[in-house]
Amino acid sequence: MLSSGLNKILLGGLALATTGSCTWWTPPATAACKAIDFALPRGRVNYPDSPAYAKENTYWSSRQTDNIAPACFVTPYNAFEVATTVTVLRGLNTQFSVKGGGHTAFAGGSNSDGGVTIDLMYLTALNVADDRKTVSIGAGNRWINVSEALDTQGLVVVGGRVADVGVSGLILGGGISYFSGMYGWACDNVRNYEVVTASGKIVNASPIKNKDLYWALRGGGGSNFGIVTRFDVAAYEQPGGNIWHNSLIIPGAANASAIAAYQNLTVNGMPADNKAHSYMVLTHMDMLGGYAVISDLFHADLPNTADGVDESVPGVFEPFESLPTIMKTKSIVNVSTLSRSINIPYGSRQTWWDTTVKATDPSLFTDIVPLWQAHVEKLQAAANGSAVTPYLAFQAIPLNVLKAMEANGGNALGLKQSDGPLMIVQLTAQWADSALDDLMEKSSEEVIGKINNLAKSRGLSHGFVYANYAGSRQSVFESYGAANHAKLKQIAQKWDPKGVLQKLWKGYFKL
Ligand SMILES: Cc1cc2nc3c(=O)[nH]c(=O)nc-3n(C[C@H](O)[C@H](O)[C@H](O)COP(=O)(O)OP(=O)(O)OC[C@H]3O[C@@H](n4cnc5c(N)ncnc54)[C@H](O)[C@@H]3O)c2cc1C
Ligand SMILES: *[C@@H]1O[C@H](CO)[C@@H](O)[C@H](O)[C@H]1NC(C)=O
Ligand SMILES: *[C@@H]1O[C@H](CO)[C@@H](O)[C@H](O)[C@H]1NC(C)=O
Ligand SMILES: *[C@@H]1O[C@H](CO)[C@@H](O)[C@H](O)[C@H]1NC(C)=O
Ligand SMILES: *[C@@H]1O[C@H](CO)[C@@H](O)[C@H](O)[C@H]1NC(C)=O
Ligand SMILES: *[C@@H]1O[C@H](CO)[C@@H](O)[C@H](O)[C@H]1NC(C)=O
Repeated sequence: MLSSGLNKILLGGLALATTGSCTWWTPPATAACKAIDFALPRGRVNYPDSPAYAKENTYWSSRQTDNIAPACFVTPYNAFEVATTVTVLRGLNTQFSVKGGGHTAFAGGSNSDGGVTIDLMYLTALNVADDRKTVSIGAGNRWINVSEALDTQGLVVVGGRVADVGVSGLILGGGISYFSGMYGWACDNVRNYEVVTASGKIVNASPIKNKDLYWALRGGGGSNFGIVTRFDVAAYEQPGGNIWHNSLIIPGAANASAIAAYQNLTVNGMPADNKAHSYMVLTHMDMLGGYAVISDLFHADLPNTADGVDESVPGVFEPFESLPTIMKTKSIVNVSTLSRSINIPYGSRQTWWDTTVKATDPSLFTDIVPLWQAHVEKLQAAANGSAVTPYLAFQAIPLNVLKAMEANGGNALGLKQSDGPLMIVQLTAQWADSALDDLMEKSSEEVIGKINNLAKSRGLSHGFVYANYAGSRQSVFESYGAANHAKLKQIAQKWDPKGVLQKLWKGYFKL
């Protein structure tokens, strides 16, 4: 009954397509919304001006919703409903996008203006296997949902560090985790993907089934291969889901010593202690007295603390003890509480850009700081008093992480131990006034170019662009290396020979 109704509408669309004055006439997205509404159980499709639509059209970066309105949101409840949705969209040649946790910074990253946005929010399955070795995670979960379920069981996964970020986008692009030192990135720990392909089939991809797709999905992103409906990921024992955390706020003027400590941690510290994890962020905030360095240190080993007060410091972080601090907060904390404490609120415009360089020389990083400072001053002058918060983040890819990435046949990212150790240099900003959008993009692009040139001039360039931190104009898949890029294209061609996803799923990085 449902499928004959669906056929009628698809045929209706085809009839229009052949009788219309233009041979390539495409029905408006509202036709697809109606067809999907008819094919799925009631209430799955939401139109503008409904409360459900307003709830779904909520994204972390306001650039994803400002002046952007899909013809409808579709909220499938399971993989079959996702498959039906894809079949209708393909049949009616309708542009669409997919929302996991909606944390892409740029406009259109996971919302389709005038098309159809598939919001996976109801794919909320979360099941720990009896042997506690894997967890099946529905694609609509946020990391807080995962950690809340796992902390109480004394398990962790290699997943996102921030509560509200989506499971889907983070794993599909790579996924840097508190536990990456031991196990690589999130994508390296996926045991099986359940995927709806361009043809509307539900398939599994694992080291034994559809191996090529399994390889491609580990870094190749969703929008070229299909909609992942479930991730089966490795789980690891971690009592209470607890980890050691020290958060340091260091005055900006100490950036050189702080950065040198982080570079040394990357090259010498973390490879010798794979339970350690860390990132370092420079920012400018009035409440921190202007420029400041935020240094977060994590360790998966817990000291014995009978009284719950812990003054011990893992040896690997000892060099950070001598840095001057404005604030220092040590704690033993479960992943849920930790990830909530570093959540970044909604409501700002956001841009993220990144590049990757060799980590072997600290002076490269201290010399990047003035390039960023000039950018900050330019943005503040243009903002004329409206809010702008700039960040320059360093995120290590030490040798132990590169080694862990070789598991399961290696991922698609193209990062080799022989190129390492590496550092992701990430440039982000949040601001209020949309009049600044163009300058933000242009100036960020320029700074990334200058960083790459500086690295090149010192023989320290690498060029990997981490998709999950990339600006919309960056060439992500080219940066995986020619061989991996070609292999990804070939796999996409096999699973989507008509290029349906390339044509209809716009707005994110394409092969
Ligand atoms: C506050 C914050 C903290 C972050 N912390 C980390 C971190 O700790 N580690 C890290 O590595 N990254 C981190 N990131 C980056 C993060 O990995 C990316 O922003 C990621 O894209 C977010 O996933 P999402 O599902 O929320 O985003 P979305 O915008 O919903 O999705 C991203 C892309 O994936 C596609 N997609 C979504 N779901 C699916 C699916 N099921 N199947 C196929 N395609 C799909 C979307 O269409 C879009 O193209 C963070 C980002 C933010 C904003
Ligand atoms: C996931 O977490 C969010 C935030 O705590 C919550 O609102 C939502 O209901 C949770 N989802 C599920 C399926 O539990
Ligand atoms: C995590 O720790 C907090 C205390 O910081 C506690 O209230 C909470 O119950 C813990 N969460 C889980 C899921 O165990
Ligand atoms: C970095 O340190 C140098 C030297 O102490 C100082 O001049 C500069 O302003 C600092 N930059 C930032 C962004 O804190
Ligand atoms: C560099 O790291 C090593 C290993 O952790 C440590 O022994 C050494 O003291 C560090 N050097 C500096 C200058 O911080
Ligand atoms: C800057 O802001 C002030 C006060 O809000 C306003 O008077 C002035 O015109 C603005 N200047 C520019 C260049 O926008």
